[in-house]
Amino acid sequence: SPGAARRGGGACFQRAVRARERLLDAEVNTRKKTFAEVQTERLEQAERTILIKCPPKINEKKLLQYLSSHGKINSHFFFENRGIHALIEFSEKNSIASLQDVIGIPSATEHHVVPFKSRLFTFTLKNPVGQAAAETPIHFAPQSHIPVKDLIQKLCSADSISSQMYSLLNEYQLTEENIKLRFLACSLVRDFARAYFPDSVVKPFGSSVNTFGKLGCDVDMFLDFHETRKHTTKMKKGPFEMEYQMKRLPSERLATQKILSVIGDCLDHFGPGCVSVQKILNARCPLVKFSHQPTGFQCDLSVSNSIAIKSSELLYIYGCLDSRVRALVFSIRCWARVHGLTNSVPGAWITNFSLTMMVMFFLQKRSPPIIPTLDRLRELADEEDKHVIGGYDCSFVSDLSKINPTKNKETLDVLLCDFFEYFGNFDFRKNSINLRKGKEVNKPESSPLYIWNPFEQDLNISKNVNQPQLEKFVALARESAWILQKEDKTQRMVNKEPWGLAALLIPFGKSNPDKIKNRVKGIGSETIKSLLDSLKLSSVNSLQKAVGK
Ligand code: GTP
Ligand code: MG
Repeated sequence: SPGAARRGGGACFQRAVRARERLLDAEVNTRKKTFAEVQTERLEQAERTILIKCPPKINEKKLLQYLSSHGKINSHFFFENRGIHALIEFSEKNSIASLQDVIGIPSATEHHVVPFKSRLFTFTLKNPVGQAAAETPIHFAPQSHIPVKDLIQKLCSADSISSQMYSLLNEYQLTEENIKLRFLACSLVRDFARAYFPDSVVKPFGSSVNTFGKLGCDVDMFLDFHETRKHTTKMKKGPFEMEYQMKRLPSERLATQKILSVIGDCLDHFGPGCVSVQKILNARCPLVKFSHQPTGFQCDLSVSNSIAIKSSELLYIYGCLDSRVRALVFSIRCWARVHGLTNSVPGAWITNFSLTMMVMFFLQKRSPPIIPTLDRLRELADEEDKHVIGGYDCSFVSDLSKINPTKNKETLDVLLCDFFEYFGNFDFRKNSINLRKGKEVNKPESSPLYIWNPFEQDLNISKNVNQPQLEKFVALARESAWILQKEDKTQRMVNKEPWGLAALLIPFGKSNPDKIKNRVKGIGSETIKSLLDSLKLSSVNSLQKAVGK
């Protein structure tokens, strides 16, 4: 019948439409997004997201069913952090308002509650026995990486240093879920900031967004009043001028300190799960530190800092350009942490940020280069990429497709070893590291390690590093190069000893008892001995398994 024919034709057409949609999706998914696109998308997603603390036995289906009555759920996952939590991303923001309408306020028997309504909820079962039994066990998305000891074991079963490095990257890098949680933390802080500044946004920067973050790293966030500024420019276009009356303060720094002070107090007094709030307002870059218990993150909140954001974007671009970049950075960062070159407390040691810049510089110096210099990225910038901060041109291309892929085909095996050799022999006394030019430049002053701030002329990002720390870095780099060059992989595998990258992630000096005494003072050589023993043991086990014994 004609009707059936129409229906048939319709189905055909729909199939074609769906196929085309899939193609378009694939196109969008394969094109690498710009830094700004990723930020905007994630921030918007976070505004549609809530966090629910769940009882120990939770029926996933029933929870989702209940929540779905308030709107479509786009995605969700569970994780463990002092109990079970569920992150729920709705497809519409107003679903949250609908949910908030029916949510109760805790009865204050022992405590008094502050009536701030956030997007953090607690879910309880009225009749735990009847409802609990979950048919399917819940999957928990891991929010931390495996211990180094387990990592080393894993690396030993890889077949090349290169695959060891990708394996490390895979274990340590931020997951999709963890990134969502990071943006949610920012979005929850923004809810507080908006109580004072309705236009403000809280955005993450640093390793949460620069593609070099590892599970467990802090969330650096900043308060942005950019929207307010845009508004001012608009008003000035007419035949007249109108502007807000605003409080005037003698300096930007003072304004920053005052804003952070109030928001810090607000988080401290009223923020659910915001604990250990510390206002560090006299630092070079004033900030508020706090621990956000519901997401489990350590957070650093500061006020908009264009240079830090540009640095994050630059690293994002480098990290997206070639898969070897992130693999090498993660390995070097892990190596530096294991040997005590970097530390979570500030001091005279090299920071992860400086170390990452050193890796970028090394990759610019390869022949042919693996990543372009910053000057080259500026040449590729178009009108929209123009960015001048403090009179200094910080423009660089944002569209990744405008950057030609490298012709360099070196393996990570080669790159890792050469990194250590390169910096083990670098003339730090005479030369500084300049990513803008991709060349060594005479040091402008006598700091032991001089890495040019890519966006602020005449500033050294590693000014804090002292001579002993630099010497330690050089010594460890030389030793690592030496281990990689002289080691006989097959022999080490036969001896059930860690090899390649794994060998570099164990405090050195194992073959030299004198060195052990020197190096491991304070760490406890027992720990290392038992680590080595357990490695031998488990590789014996896996070998036995492999041969079927
Ligand atoms: P993690 O160690 O994983 O937290 O790396 P990170 O890159 O997030 O470093 P950190 O949290 O110490 O700093 C956050 C951001 O601040 C960095 O990504 C940089 O953009 C910026 N930053 C940190 N240290 C310096 C510095 O010494 N100079 C400049 N100009 N910026 C810095
Ligand atoms: Mg950080």
